[in-house]
Amino acid sequence: MKSPKPHLSKEEKIRDAYDESAIYYNSRYQIIQFLKYGIMLPKLIHIPSLPSVEIKGPILDVGGGTGLFLEFLDLLSLYWRGEYVKDEKIRKILEFTSYYIMRITGIKPVSLVHNLMIICDISFNMLLHARSLRNDTALRGLVACDCSHLPFRNKFYLTLIAFTVFQNIKNTESAIYQFFRTIQDLGTVGISILRKHSNKLEFVNLLGTYFEQIQPITIENIIEKLQKSNGQFDKYSPTSILHELECVEDFFLSAKKPQGKENEIIRI
Ligand SMILES: C[S@@+](CC[C@H](N)C(=O)[O-])C[C@H]1O[C@@H](n2cnc3c(N)ncnc32)[C@H](O)[C@@H]1O
Repeated sequence: MKSPKPHLSKEEKIRDAYDESAIYYNSRYQIIQFLKYGIMLPKLIHIPSLPSVEIKGPILDVGGGTGLFLEFLDLLSLYWRGEYVKDEKIRKILEFTSYYIMRITGIKPVSLVHNLMIICDISFNMLLHARSLRNDTALRGLVACDCSHLPFRNKFYLTLIAFTVFQNIKNTESAIYQFFRTIQDLGTVGISILRKHSNKLEFVNLLGTYFEQIQPITIENIIEKLQKSNGQFDKYSPTSILHELECVEDFFLSAKKPQGKENEIIRI
């Protein structure tokens, strides 16, 4: 039996826990995380030329773990190119994502422009696992670090995402400040947070110190839209995804970095 390590900080304990469970992560959480990406994606994309969509890069996936978000984007690209995705649950999520993008943007996307993505995570084993699954050029940016001390230069990224990470972070404000520092003016952040671990209002207030145009995405709203959409789903009834949506335990926020706000912010 391993000896307890009372001397470790909260971050170090979390790092060790993810290090130990890294090889089981995808089999336990892939489906639910994919669903979260589908919920957030319409807030992250823009349309450079019809009918392509893009997440503006460079992209930083904070606490990106085993690289599931990148895998999701790859599968979505395949799906849009008309390739068959074997796993039925995943296919259903890709269909939901495509439908939801169509509802919000008014276009039927056919391709996804790939941009440079860096994945950073406190757990080295989560990143190793990402690399063991796909050792290709898309994964050239794997960085082991604590997101309260991001080792990146100011204003480098255009999109920054953090899915189900904040429940692990002791100093929420210093992480938000790091997001603010490393993202370009008018860049987009997309954050999902476990509801039971966070006070949404407090978090929104904190985010609002640094970012603007904060937009919540509520599951209830999405469910309502789907319920009204009868017949518009290609192959599945929208209700087939409703149960999965009800199981999502996060709340979702997107926000933009205002132009020239650095002077107003006192470094923390
Ligand atoms: C629930 S997992 C989510 C992983 C990934 N975002 C996803 O969607 O699958 C939480 C991740 O946050 C990472 N993490 C926890 N605390 C962190 C910190 N202080 N800085 C960076 N990453 C952290 C963990 O190692 C883990 O990979």
